[in-house]
Amino acid sequence: MFARVFLLVATAVIAAQVPSPKYVRPAPEQPLPFSHKKHTGELKLACADCHPIPGNGDFATLPATAQCMSCHTTIKKDSPHVQKLAAWHGEGVKVRWAPVYRIPDYVFFNHRIHVAVNGVTCETCHGPVAEREVLRREKDISMAACMDCHRAKGASNDCLLCHEQR
Ligand code: HEC
Ligand code: HEC
Ligand code: HEC
Ligand code: HEC
Ligand code: HEC
Repeated sequence: MFARVFLLVATAVIAAQVPSPKYVRPAPEQPLPFSHKKHTGELKLACADCHPIPGNGDFATLPATAQCMSCHTTIKKDSPHVQKLAAWHGEGVKVRWAPVYRIPDYVFFNHRIHVAVNGVTCETCHGPVAEREVLRREKDISMAACMDCHRAKGASNDCLLCHEQR
């Protein structure tokens, strides 16, 4: 019994001490406490409802306030957060969400091509978003991580695939 408790405690302590990999970043401060767990996990909204991939497919885009107000003109309208959202919507101001995943402009990346790859989903590069109350960068999007998957899937790792010739 004691041995079991000790083992449990010891395992918990060891688990707590394993440092996060370097690519994991703390969650940035956001202007509103938006929860993916609530909106996707529980309300079952699809990623594409709020993150359609338009045009050439480079960006997964962020939702406009009108999208939020389709529910929040009635839902939780007494919440100070929802009132802030409604005020921005009324003024035609975008919510200034802090970026979570970004790569430099000199790198080519296309969402549409990647989500069409067999076995690749949003979760491959962004983790279990629908379980997250708050998003932080928890998946590696470094050059080495891009190249690892390219190698594994037989895609090119030619420098010019991802970088423009200077
Ligand atoms: C109701 C709308 C809504 C739905 C549905 C939704 N999201 Fe989001 N998503 C947002 C908002 C708002 C933000 C900005 C705030 C934040 O980062 O939490 C965001 C941010 C993100 C980001 C970080 C963007 C960045 O700047 O780096 C990722 C990645 C993401 N969502 C993935 C997903 C995935 C995957 C799904 C489906 C499982 C999903 N989202 C469903 C509204 C939504
Ligand atoms: C399909 C309807 C729907 C859409 C679309 C929607 N929400 Fe929500 N939202 C809800 C529901 C339901 C809750 C939970 C209410 C509760 O806790 O009782 C909620 C809760 C919230 C809360 C927490 C409010 C509080 O103070 O407890 C915030 C903030 C929020 N939503 C922001 C957003 C933003 C920003 C968007 C657009 C990106 C959005 N919502 C889109 C239905 C929606
Ligand atoms: C192969 C990896 C990969 C997959 C799969 C992927 N993303 Fe991304 N995502 C990224 C990278 C890399 C960035 C940063 C892009 C940039 O800075 O231009 C990003 C950025 C984002 C952003 C911020 C806005 C933008 O487009 O730059 C959102 C929102 C997002 N992803 C949502 C999604 C959703 C939703 C899915 C599934 C439909 C998805 N992602 C699938 C790698 C991926
Ligand atoms: C989960 C696996 C995976 C990850 C992670 C991944 N890729 Fe890819 N990528 C692929 C595959 C597979 C292809 C080939 C797709 C095809 O030919 O249909 C591809 C194709 C590409 C292409 C050529 C198509 C185009 O968009 O012009 C570029 C550029 C690219 N990836 C950039 C990146 C960058 C940058 C990253 C990291 C931020 C990345 N990829 C991460 C699997 C991945
Ligand atoms: C599959 C996509 C991909 C390929 C192929 C690729 N890169 Fe990159 N590269 C990236 C990404 C993504 C970044 C940005 C990394 C970051 O900011 O963490 C980057 C960053 C860089 C940087 C800047 C590094 C820094 O620390 O500032 C250099 C230099 C570079 N790449 C050179 C190359 C060379 C040389 C090749 C060919 C051998 C190559 N890349 C192939 C995706 C790629």
